[in-house]
Amino acid sequence: MGKRLGVGIIGGGFVGRFHIRSWLGVRHADILGVCSRTEKSAGEAAALARELGVGDATACTSVTELVEDPRIDAVWICVPNHVRLEVMQEVHAAGKGKLVGVACEKPLGRTVPEARRMLELAEDMEVLHGYLENQLFMPPVVRGKEILWRRGAAAAGRPYLARSAEEHGGPHEPWFWRGKEQGGGVLNDMMCHSLEAARFMLQEPGTPRSSLVPKTVSCDIASLKWTRDEYIERLKRDMGVDYAVAPSEDFARATVTYETEDGKPVITEATTSWSYVGPGLRLTVEVMGPEYSMQGNSLNNHLNLFFSREVSGAEGEDLIEKQFAEQGLVPVVTDEEAEYGYTGENRHFVDCFRNGITPSETFEDGLEVTKLLMACYMSAERGERLSWEPEGLEDFVPAVARETWKPSDALEGR
Ligand SMILES: NC(=O)c1ccc[n+]([C@@H]2O[C@H](COP(=O)([O-])OP(=O)(O)OC[C@H]3O[C@@H](n4cnc5c(N)ncnc54)[C@H](OP(=O)(O)O)[C@@H]3O)[C@@H](O)[C@H]2O)c1
Repeated sequence: MGKRLGVGIIGGGFVGRFHIRSWLGVRHADILGVCSRTEKSAGEAAALARELGVGDATACTSVTELVEDPRIDAVWICVPNHVRLEVMQEVHAAGKGKLVGVACEKPLGRTVPEARRMLELAEDMEVLHGYLENQLFMPPVVRGKEILWRRGAAAAGRPYLARSAEEHGGPHEPWFWRGKEQGGGVLNDMMCHSLEAARFMLQEPGTPRSSLVPKTVSCDIASLKWTRDEYIERLKRDMGVDYAVAPSEDFARATVTYETEDGKPVITEATTSWSYVGPGLRLTVEVMGPEYSMQGNSLNNHLNLFFSREVSGAEGEDLIEKQFAEQGLVPVVTDEEAEYGYTGENRHFVDCFRNGITPSETFEDGLEVTKLLMACYMSAERGERLSWEPEGLEDFVPAVARETWKPSDALEGR
């Protein structure tokens, strides 16, 4: 057993705090610092870590100061997509030869060159790098995959179809809605999860990522809700963004066909949306094989509450992420940090960083996911099913990210 790992969180916002809360289930590591753009959010997040007893965290507004703190061995990058690379450059400058690990939230980059640069910087630092894809650590995904392959696939052959979806009513901060800053719309924001979770279910345990080779990608995107007049007004009012001028997609679906090592096709279907109105965030995963199937749905859990019309409480997010209602029948995800995979993910990355082991998801995997996302946008823009690896992926910037995309394209065929 090595020494405890001192962790610094860069970005004390929404997901930074999810990581901090998940630390109640993480051993052998302490959160010793939080850095944010403003003292307010750094201070609040550091105070949360101290209140929970998951580390004697200090707060600062300088990435360099956090990285140079002698107690910090590894950092978790949890900043918005448009500052991801500049933060990594500062981590590289201050942390080369000092840090042992760098973990980064999804997506690794907004384009293939950005994601590749993240990987190059991590390699140049000679650190272990981890791509934070929490859905691969969700208990139904981990346990479902283990049982399905051990019993179903062993007896009847490998699974051939995996479906995954992430849906909610729209993000919490304006930068997510801005194509240029975020890198796209819901496809870039959430399909990174669904593509990777579905692919992971079909990858035989113990085999490398390369055992499934992408062959074709086909994708559609659309704006179904947020470019309707009343929702354009609402976005202007609540987020200060104008979807009459620069809209992003709020719906995406993609089919990726992979070839197995013995030349068979297997398929992933991913769907994401910012236009789902339900109790809150919904994550689903389904897998089918020749004599078996599985399905998981984060809203089908064991706690349902009911509030009559006499109970009109304040709006909040205390029952479920991206909560939509406080009355009627409401499902509650009792331990969101564990159910969404953050706890298992952080336990894994801490164990790897402490013991000098390459994590199961690295920046190389993050780069592969970014390539798939760009191919999805390319397919949607061209209205074509693309063969892997499509030409021009390296220079490709989605029209949504260039803020030139037109929602009416969804009505055109080829
Ligand atoms: N795994 C998941 O399911 C999941 C869920 C949500 C988000 N994410 C990803 O996590 C990242 C952060 O998202 P979020 O929802 O946490 O965003 P957020 O709520 O906007 O929080 C971002 C935080 O980063 C800080 N920040 C901004 N620029 C910075 C800089 N240059 N240096 C240091 N800190 C800086 C902000 O500080 P201030 O508060 O002081 O402005 C804020 O605290 C995104 O890449 C997103 O895609 C992943």
